[in-house]
Amino acid sequence: MIPSLKGEAEYVINLLKNIIEMIPDAVMVADRDGNCIMVNQAYKNLSGLSDEDVVGKPADIDIAERDSVLIKSIREGREFVNLLRRVGPDKREVLCSAKPIYIQGELVGSVGVMHDISEIKRLSRELEHKNRILRSLESKYTLDDILGNSEKILKAKEEAKACAGVSATVLLVGESGTGKELFAHAIHNMSPRAGGPFVRVNCAAINKELVESELFGYEGGAFTGSLRHGKKGYFEQADGGTLFLDEISEFSLQAQAKLLRVLQEQEVLRIGSTVPQKVDVRVIAATNRDLEEEVRRGNFRQDLYYRLNVIKITIPPLRERKEDIPLLCNSIIKKYNQKYGRGINSISKKALEILMSYDWPGNVRELENIISRAMINMDISEKEIKPEHLPDLVDNHGFLRQLSDGDIVVSVKGKTWDQVKREFEAKVLKFFLNKKKSKTAIAKDLGITRRALYKKMKLLED
Ligand SMILES: Nc1ncnc2c1ncn2[C@@H]1O[C@H](COP(=O)(O)OP(=O)(O)OP(=O)(O)O)[C@@H](O)[C@H]1O
Ligand SMILES: [Mg+2]
Repeated sequence: MIPSLKGEAEYVINLLKNIIEMIPDAVMVADRDGNCIMVNQAYKNLSGLSDEDVVGKPADIDIAERDSVLIKSIREGREFVNLLRRVGPDKREVLCSAKPIYIQGELVGSVGVMHDISEIKRLSRELEHKNRILRSLESKYTLDDILGNSEKILKAKEEAKACAGVSATVLLVGESGTGKELFAHAIHNMSPRAGGPFVRVNCAAINKELVESELFGYEGGAFTGSLRHGKKGYFEQADGGTLFLDEISEFSLQAQAKLLRVLQEQEVLRIGSTVPQKVDVRVIAATNRDLEEEVRRGNFRQDLYYRLNVIKITIPPLRERKEDIPLLCNSIIKKYNQKYGRGINSISKKALEILMSYDWPGNVRELENIISRAMINMDISEKEIKPEHLPDLVDNHGFLRQLSDGDIVVSVKGKTWDQVKREFEAKVLKFFLNKKKSKTAIAKDLGITRRALYKKMKLLED
């Protein structure tokens, strides 16, 4: 029945051709000798080549650089995925995958799919551009966003204002969550560089081996894995603007030496280049460590410390400006009302008292966490933050200070951690209850609400 067999083959081939035409990616099929037998329209669009140019010819006829992935897959009898090639007269960049075709165990050819990445590249360029805009949008904070009327914060704000006009290096020192990043943004936005880029670098997060290439960039082909056209470092990215080096104490001594050189010369040398490039960058560094102590310990270069320390702004911890807490609370409530779609309009006097008696080791960030958590847990009908909405704030400093005049002994033998904790808490509670103070005073000492204290006393009785 040869004619019908032939008819069937024709039918299948036609079906196949139609299917291949439907595929949006470029497809090429080759026979076992590596000659092209079929391409689809998407392939022709991508490569700019016609059927006549390729069909019946070796499958590498279209490749502008390197070998054909189709032929490679036939030769080696295995699949290859996403190899970078250039095809056609335009040398379009494509990702090429190819898989050998076996029929009844016999290798009969190979099918390849090409994915144009010029579009991806265009999109990633666009994304990078958007990111750059986003970064400058992020840098929208001004001095007005730094809240507080306490003497200490006003002094820090004055200092920030005074240094904005000059290009000198600024060192921001403050505990975690005090607003160092906010200050960096504000200084940038008050400076003549406000229209330029603001680039933040988290020195703790940069891979130690890559510090130099991240900061100073590299020339094309400087090392394996590097981008073809090289890459700008953070200094070049920040040219004409501000480079914010956050957590500067986390830099290795080697990185510190490199940084010092750039600060002195105001020029960078890309890895693999011999031509230094001038950069106009204002550096703001931040740390929550005592850098002088780090210098004494040999962890931080003294010369770099002097370089950075031209203008030093100390940002006070929240416990030294507790009078700002009500103002901060109101602004945080507003912010989270908007974020969570809530209508909370106040915080009770008692709740404020609790917040004012706490020492805030995590500073404004911790205050923000506590208030936002309270707001999430409130009933939708509740409009005022009350003590019962607040978690137990244990003021470890005051609390431990008081404990130190009594011995709390808990034997741990044969007990679980939970049992030990419970027993310790019970003994601490008894210790405070024995002080014959009012329940309100005891609750305050423990940094918990009266209600929480009664709950704990109840547990003690059980
Ligand atoms: N004075 C302030 N007024 C209003 N919000 C503030 C103030 N200080 C800090 N914040 C807020 O507290 C949070 C922490 O601030 P920021 O990230 O600037 O602190 P940081 O000092 O950089 O902390 P870390 O050392 O942990 O990085 C942010 O949400 C910030 O908006
Ligand atoms: Mg920070």
